[in-house]
Amino acid sequence: MSGSIIRVLPEDLANKIAAGEVVERPASVVKELVENSVDAGAGSIAIDLENGGKRLIHIQDDGSGMNRDDALLAFERHATSKIRANEDLFNIRTLGFRGEALPSIAAVSKVLLTTSTGEPGQGQKLCIEGGALRDVKAAAHPKGTSLMVRQLFFNTPARRKFLKTDQTELSHISNTVMRQALARPDISFRINHNGRNLVNAPAHSQILPRIMDLFGRDLVSDLVPVQFRKNGFGLDGYVSKPHCHRVAKDALFFYVNGRYVKDRVVTHAVLEAFRGLLPKERVPMAFLYLEISPGSVDVNVHPSKTEVRFAEQSEVHSFISQSIKEGLKSGGGKHAPAEAARKKEASVAPEVREQTAVLVKDKTSYVPLPFPPAFPFTPRREYPAPATQAKYVQSRHIKGPGEGSEGLKSTPVPAPRLMDASSLGYSDFRTIGQIDNSFIVLEGKKGMVLVDQHTAHERVLYERFLAEKEKKSVEAQSLLFPLTLEFTKGEALLLESMADELEALGFEVESFGGNSVLVRSVPSLLSDKDCKLILRDVLDRAALLGKGASLEELAGDIIAVMACHAAVRAGQSLKREEMLSLMEKLQATNRPFTCPHGRPIALFFEMAQIKKSFLR
Ligand SMILES: Nc1ncnc2c1ncn2[C@@H]1O[C@H](COP(=O)(O)OP(=O)(O)OP(=O)(O)O)[C@@H](O)[C@H]1O
Ligand SMILES: [Mg+2]
Repeated sequence: MSGSIIRVLPEDLANKIAAGEVVERPASVVKELVENSVDAGAGSIAIDLENGGKRLIHIQDDGSGMNRDDALLAFERHATSKIRANEDLFNIRTLGFRGEALPSIAAVSKVLLTTSTGEPGQGQKLCIEGGALRDVKAAAHPKGTSLMVRQLFFNTPARRKFLKTDQTELSHISNTVMRQALARPDISFRINHNGRNLVNAPAHSQILPRIMDLFGRDLVSDLVPVQFRKNGFGLDGYVSKPHCHRVAKDALFFYVNGRYVKDRVVTHAVLEAFRGLLPKERVPMAFLYLEISPGSVDVNVHPSKTEVRFAEQSEVHSFISQSIKEGLKSGGGKHAPAEAARKKEASVAPEVREQTAVLVKDKTSYVPLPFPPAFPFTPRREYPAPATQAKYVQSRHIKGPGEGSEGLKSTPVPAPRLMDASSLGYSDFRTIGQIDNSFIVLEGKKGMVLVDQHTAHERVLYERFLAEKEKKSVEAQSLLFPLTLEFTKGEALLLESMADELEALGFEVESFGGNSVLVRSVPSLLSDKDCKLILRDVLDRAALLGKGASLEELAGDIIAVMACHAAVRAGQSLKREEMLSLMEKLQATNRPFTCPHGRPIALFFEMAQIKKSFLR
């Protein structure tokens, strides 16, 4: 008989495995430590970083602190002060509850904890390396906790290899802290990087001044308040007016009982409220705080704690949508009544802000919670993968390239096909006009083609920008008065890190202190466009591209954004010469059938099918 082969893993190995889920990068460490400080009732959180947090993350708070026994226990797996029994799991009011963050972080770094409950002589200093306790001794410390995390992943080189540049890691940290700071305006947050101050967000009693600190005054004047209560649910916060929108879904800051969440139901509900008000594929900015009985929402879905499950999913969905619609109606939505429209600007006047702003709960009775991402948003690449294309075709009931005409038997309607490289070329057709000021109509012996003028022009401009970049000949126009644009700190950092790529494409940008960015030149082709909107889209794309993106991919995405903004829009009437010129240029491109974002350019209606439909 062979011996048993199953073993309980040693604790340090179990911790390392748990760290794999909890600690992905410096920003995840910052998230966990800031959450701990918030849970400990801190009024002020100071974060010092070195080399994008890779070399050092140092977080200091003025919270409750820990005594010696608790400080030692805190690094044990499943040791927590936040829940005790089964039923507590369904009534969670703190950010943490799993009791795994500190042991996970300590397993993959060198940690120095100094903490005190404020009683004289109670301060303690603990040193832990790779999960092993090296030293414990008494140390003077004011009430609160200081945690230094050095050399993240020093003992897991595979993980270390995946870390990005200091700027990129810093930008992730900044976004993480921003999400938490938006949940708790009553706590002051400060971030220093390599000794330089990056973020300084003083404490406020309301959320609007915090939004202004982080996003700038411009955005605040584009927000309308949302405040609604019904059936035990409450929603407070702000959404952007319909003319102010973004590409990336992470412009939605949604909090459930103070916890930042990325949730499909919530996202869908917000978009539903804006249905028909925004251009396609754009999302509003939103800062929304849902309050719901903790028993009706499960936060224990994933170790990152950003996902939730609602017991009454559809009720929550319609409550959120309805609340936002009400807010838009009375606060300046596109279809707002005249009186509300007149009140539009007043909606951000300071005295009204005071009344409508979200009131931060008394810390002693309620501990709200925040926190960061993991949204499975796949950035769209140059061309759709076959599966994507198939899905697109299916969703539109359109035949894919190369598909036969067997559908005809069941329907007499001519089934259009997406044109692709294996089918006919545009030279088989001649341009005859435009329909709906959006599509160019071509005809020929073989049938008829509809060309989407926007995607066609996008393709032409994309290849033109690409070629000009290669030849280093992108024409830039220096601005007589450089533009000062406000972004969030994370965005400003990201822009700074892309300065070289942007310059090669005609955008000369430089940091202008704080959250401001100075734009000195823009590509000539875009000189009459909204520069802030373009740079914001560039940032959103870069954020979506995320982690493993190469400079080439990044440049490709920037060019795609530029092409999209410079291209002729749907709804724009074109002269005959303009149509002819566009078709000529489109034919000369390398990929004349797909736009840089992967959307199709042309639909082909075969003559034989057209005739059959008319029973000829
Ligand atoms: N900054 C702090 N101030 C006071 N106590 C703290 C601090 N950080 C951690 N603790 C204590 O250490 C315990 C363990 O922290 P840890 O982050 O590992 O677990 P948790 O917060 O309980 O749960 P989670 O793993 O979900 O974060 C906490 O429950 C808390 O009692
Ligand atoms: Mg914790």
